[in-house]
Amino acid sequence: MLYTPLNYQGNKSRIVDCLLSLLPQDVSSIHEIFCGSAVFSFASKANRVYLNDINTHITDLILYFHDNDANDIIEQADGIIGRYGLTNTFYEGRARYPENRHEGLSHYNKDAFNRLKADYNLDKDIAKLFVLSIYGFNHYLRFNAKGEFNVPVGKVDFVKTLRDKTQAYCSAIRNKEVVLSNYDFRSGELYRGVERAAVFYFDPPYLITQAPYNLFWTEQEELDLLDLIDELDAEGYRFILSNVIESNGKQNNLLCDWMTKYNVKHIHRQYLNSSYQKKNLSNADEVAITNF
Ligand SMILES: C[S@@+](CC[C@H](N)C(=O)[O-])C[C@H]1O[C@@H](n2cnc3c(N)ncnc32)[C@H](O)[C@@H]1O
Repeated sequence: MLYTPLNYQGNKSRIVDCLLSLLPQDVSSIHEIFCGSAVFSFASKANRVYLNDINTHITDLILYFHDNDANDIIEQADGIIGRYGLTNTFYEGRARYPENRHEGLSHYNKDAFNRLKADYNLDKDIAKLFVLSIYGFNHYLRFNAKGEFNVPVGKVDFVKTLRDKTQAYCSAIRNKEVVLSNYDFRSGELYRGVERAAVFYFDPPYLITQAPYNLFWTEQEELDLLDLIDELDAEGYRFILSNVIESNGKQNNLLCDWMTKYNVKHIHRQYLNSSYQKKNLSNADEVAITNF
């Protein structure tokens, strides 16, 4: 099990052990084409991981965690939290901040968070972005067309679990040789000259679920990806594709038809769907599709 301190939407922490059990013993390197926080690659035994995501902010954060010691990252975050006057209940305790129902700590942090957001949008300091991801709504990493971080304040602060996740994530990354890129998944650069012993891992946006990065994912992207994977299969490459074929009454029929020619492992699970208004359990049929 490996958790990311970014709590990145759609990260594979909960099912990573199941995915790792599918990985062949002889894998030399992993090419993760939609890496997000790259939980799968970092939890694996592969020494070399090629991580690609169209979003440069997430790969910048990975570089930050790779190149810096976890204690320094935590110290930098605490420094920013102190300078901006955000709550830090890890040190201050919770009693000081009585919470109104549903509001969490947002009421206390709103102004400081907005000042930090404005400063980050000017200086693009990566340590500030990490703090914004901690204090932002649902830990979203969302940017507007001008490239400005535009998530409102969230309910939590830099709690112990996030500090522990920071330590664990940094130590998982530390010994890996990491190659980062920011191509669209269709770019030939990602597939040129890749050794046969490699495994491609695809965890794209899902057609039938919700996340900020799903907005630009249409049936056309889905079809392009499935064609591309068929080509890799024909060339003798191994792949794993994660996806959800059913969620909250919606079905991805395109994928259901396509996957019949490969091996399909169903990772049934329920997940907690939470928002300010409600908390409910949703059913999802999550799958891992492989050609080996
Ligand atoms: C489901 S998330 C991956 C989560 C990841 N497995 C993790 O553990 O954090 C899908 C990712 O695909 C990226 N993405 C969306 N469209 C893309 C594209 N056209 N090419 C490459 N990456 C893309 C998003 O930025 C997002 O980070």
